[in-house]
Amino acid sequence: MGMLSKQKICRTGTTHNDSMGFNGVSPASKWKWTHFLPLFVAMVVIAEIASLSRLDIAKNAAMVDSWVDLFYGPPPLQEEIEDVSTGITIDGVMGRVNCEEWLEKVDAVEYSRDFKRKPVLVSGSEKDWKTCDVGCQFGLNPGEQPDAALGSPQQGHVASVLRSMESSHYYPENNIALARRKGYTVVMTTSLSSDVPVGYFSWAEYDIMAPVQPKTEPALAAAFISNCGARNFRLQALEALEKFDVKIDSYGSCHRNRDGRVDKVETLKRYKFSLAFENSNEEDYVTEKFFQSLVAGTIPVVVGTPNIKEFAPSPDSYLHIKEISDVESVAKSMKYLAENPKMYNQSLRWKYDGPSDSFKALVDMAAVHSSCRLCIHLATIIHEKEENSPEFKKRPCKCSHGSETVYHLYVRERGRFEMQSIFLRSGNLTLGALESRVLEKFKSLKHVPIWKQERPESLRGGDELKLYRIYPVGLTQKQALYTFRFKGNDDFKTHIETHPCAKMEIIFV
Ligand SMILES: *[C@@H]1O[C@H](CO)[C@@H](O)[C@H](O)[C@H]1NC(C)=O
Ligand SMILES: *[C@@H]1O[C@H](CO)[C@@H](O)[C@H](O)[C@H]1NC(C)=O
Repeated sequence: MGMLSKQKICRTGTTHNDSMGFNGVSPASKWKWTHFLPLFVAMVVIAEIASLSRLDIAKNAAMVDSWVDLFYGPPPLQEEIEDVSTGITIDGVMGRVNCEEWLEKVDAVEYSRDFKRKPVLVSGSEKDWKTCDVGCQFGLNPGEQPDAALGSPQQGHVASVLRSMESSHYYPENNIALARRKGYTVVMTTSLSSDVPVGYFSWAEYDIMAPVQPKTEPALAAAFISNCGARNFRLQALEALEKFDVKIDSYGSCHRNRDGRVDKVETLKRYKFSLAFENSNEEDYVTEKFFQSLVAGTIPVVVGTPNIKEFAPSPDSYLHIKEISDVESVAKSMKYLAENPKMYNQSLRWKYDGPSDSFKALVDMAAVHSSCRLCIHLATIIHEKEENSPEFKKRPCKCSHGSETVYHLYVRERGRFEMQSIFLRSGNLTLGALESRVLEKFKSLKHVPIWKQERPESLRGGDELKLYRIYPVGLTQKQALYTFRFKGNDDFKTHIETHPCAKMEIIFV
């Protein structure tokens, strides 16, 4: 014999699980398995004497639901499993499954706050959303200290939340750096770099895939600009377009030449172009002027955010006056497109074929109400704080099998709070393997993307899941959607090795 291995102690222990009276794992008893070691040895000896069949032991090896495992550290090496299973070849995957089930248990330290019983509480605003993946309560709850309050920064532990959809060019406080200096903990603005972005876009508010109507107006473009004054060159751009002979019907009080008492979107539908001129050229500040143009199936001519391409359903779906000197070439493009129905129709191609994945991924963000996203943000921070406690720091988060290590990762869909476990092996710690594991996991859960009911029917797709982005939890949407990518497998590997129990977020499209 002579192989009183760790393995056998574990496995034999398995069969005596209940008789030991240790079904639950109390924190106090954890890691004190050594106290019971003599007992184990005795049990092993008894087991041997009783000639417990090796076959049974092998069978037991498959049952990894053992409290002894919990106390003992990583499950046995695969070779050891083979040792006890004389004549029986255990599937090579077995050891890995053991590792994964073991990690699933030992890493599952409970958070002290159960958001179902004690929801995230935000004061200073009424509830204006339907459902949320995390317990989330708005309004006042007398006697309860809120987790956050909308409005000016306050003393104490209450996080203060700035929520505004105005341009920081008019409301400087909405500048993220300035808001932080003023003491705001959470910033919610149109900036995709803010903690919880609040945009003008959503599938619910705009019938973005509404069909294109015939362009019956003789004027090239319609404008709905209520105020000529603006902190950018929109007035100059309007005048310059007219100078270059672009005929504009103006329904707003700025340069009005048409009766403004009309339905805006219905009116826009009859024009080839729409002047989507914002009142400031601030990054990510894109208002209904642009999205209503998309609904209407008219090509927006944009004065506004420098990164308008990130808000466009396709690269040729808009014209951009970046600076006043662009007006001449934009005027030319407008006339060219107006005279070439094929080319014009090409610009609206997305209305027939659907918008880009990048556009869908952006607008899908709004499928979850910003108040719910605020709660998820706050709850995530509450969890992250607790993850710095010794109990969480003690989680192994990985498990070794000889030369191979299995890493435990947590993933969730953007807009949801609950995490799912996936496992990656050191031999295949790659982005490709990450994608495969993520898709496997969510397919096995029959996961339905959170935007499913929000999107227009034509963009909902079938039951397949398509991954668009994977990024570490905590990144801004600007990073998640546009600027962050793991720089190859080495970068990803380093991230996983340096972030035990790494938490990732996924965007499906
Ligand atoms: C524009 O293209 C779509 C898709 O090919 C087509 O169905 C539609 O009839 C075209 N419209 C015009 C006005 O050519
Ligand atoms: C690594 O993972 C990918 C994706 O799951 C898989 O196709 C590939 O065969 C794996 N390679 C190894 C060496 O396991």
